[in-house]
Amino acid sequence: MTSNSTVTYTSIDAKLEPSSTTKQMPPALFYPVNVKNLQLGNRLAVSSMCSYAAGPGNQIANLHLSRYKSFSAQHPGLIMIEGMCVDPKGKLDDKELGIWNDEQAKKLKQIVDEIHKDGCVCCVQLSHGGRKAIGDGEFDLNGRASEHNDSSRGGDDDNEILAPSAIAYDNRSKVPKEMTLADIQHAIGSFVEAAKRVVTISKVDSVEISCCNGNLLHQFMSKATNLRHDEYGCQSIESRCKILLDIIDQVRKAIGDDVPIFVKLSACDNLFKDESLDEFLSIADLIIGTGQVSLIHVTSGKITPNSKPRYSLNSDPNIPGHIPLASILKKHVKNKCLVGCSGALDMDVVKLNHYVDDGMIDVAFIGQGFLEMPNLVNQIAAKLNHKIE
Ligand SMILES: Cc1cc2nc3c(=O)[nH]c(=O)nc-3n(C[C@H](O)[C@H](O)[C@H](O)COP(=O)(O)O)c2cc1C
Repeated sequence: MTSNSTVTYTSIDAKLEPSSTTKQMPPALFYPVNVKNLQLGNRLAVSSMCSYAAGPGNQIANLHLSRYKSFSAQHPGLIMIEGMCVDPKGKLDDKELGIWNDEQAKKLKQIVDEIHKDGCVCCVQLSHGGRKAIGDGEFDLNGRASEHNDSSRGGDDDNEILAPSAIAYDNRSKVPKEMTLADIQHAIGSFVEAAKRVVTISKVDSVEISCCNGNLLHQFMSKATNLRHDEYGCQSIESRCKILLDIIDQVRKAIGDDVPIFVKLSACDNLFKDESLDEFLSIADLIIGTGQVSLIHVTSGKITPNSKPRYSLNSDPNIPGHIPLASILKKHVKNKCLVGCSGALDMDVVKLNHYVDDGMIDVAFIGQGFLEMPNLVNQIAAKLNHKIE
């Protein structure tokens, strides 16, 4: 790690040096944590959640403004703005938010400004659907395929979609075109330009690169979808991860040293019984080895229709799905990087607080709960007998 990506743990400092006043320490979920120059006020983060409700030009619409305002009014430690597609060919849905032009970034700034008015930290997830995309052809806005009703994923016959290898997602999906090296450089450039846009135009505080949920970067990382034999091919972990590592490197150069970079990472595809986690830790080592990534958000599965999240690791149904995977990673990386995860974490917040207190995870990403509960942060605080000041 370079000094640029140092992560400090306010929680640990706080535990070692209790305040001289008699004031009670907050529960671990409500300790702040610093990420580079940013301070997350607590460990509760809104996880990225696509709404597939973009306005014309794949821009932010009113729904987004009201949704994100309702999140920021609760003061979570971090708000991850939903996956924004870096290239029109990579859209999962015709109403997915895009971030391939400056107009989209200007519109995004409206949300970022509102989130900042509430004193919250905000990050944007950057994504590309690869073979799961619908491409950039013309679409009937009312009737096209989407991630959720995928009856004709892949769009029109003349509408090209791209992937590391020419393998369709399922038997109803279009076969993607195997990307040339020029296509790969173009995709890397799209991530880099998008990151520059959200930082310089939209003024977000950090960027998350999405390498999960079966999307383009995950498709390169997985042996199930990458059959290439070039420098981005399947012959080694390094070559499967090269596109992600190139993006991290070039994004860092484009956005300067101060803006934290996060990665949402699929820990395993869960396609075989007893799939090893050694690869996951090796991939994490490569990511951390760049010295540029401040947080890894752990998830799993979804590379193929049979690739379920790795809940099977978890024999106790009372432990949320990704906690075991994330805690294995945390133990491995120690303080080189923050580790977060998502997946029903709000099921038992007393236990969740213990996971953070015990150093098993640093940040709790919550999705559905924030959509369902208008005052989730307060409810969590109340369950922990904590009064938010
Ligand atoms: C409506 C919805 C949309 C989602 N969209 C995204 C997305 O854009 N990018 C992503 O990485 N994960 C996405 N997810 C997954 C969530 O970020 C989160 O990882 C998952 O829902 C598990 O957390 P939860 O059980 O607290 O909801 C989405 C989840 C939901 C429910």
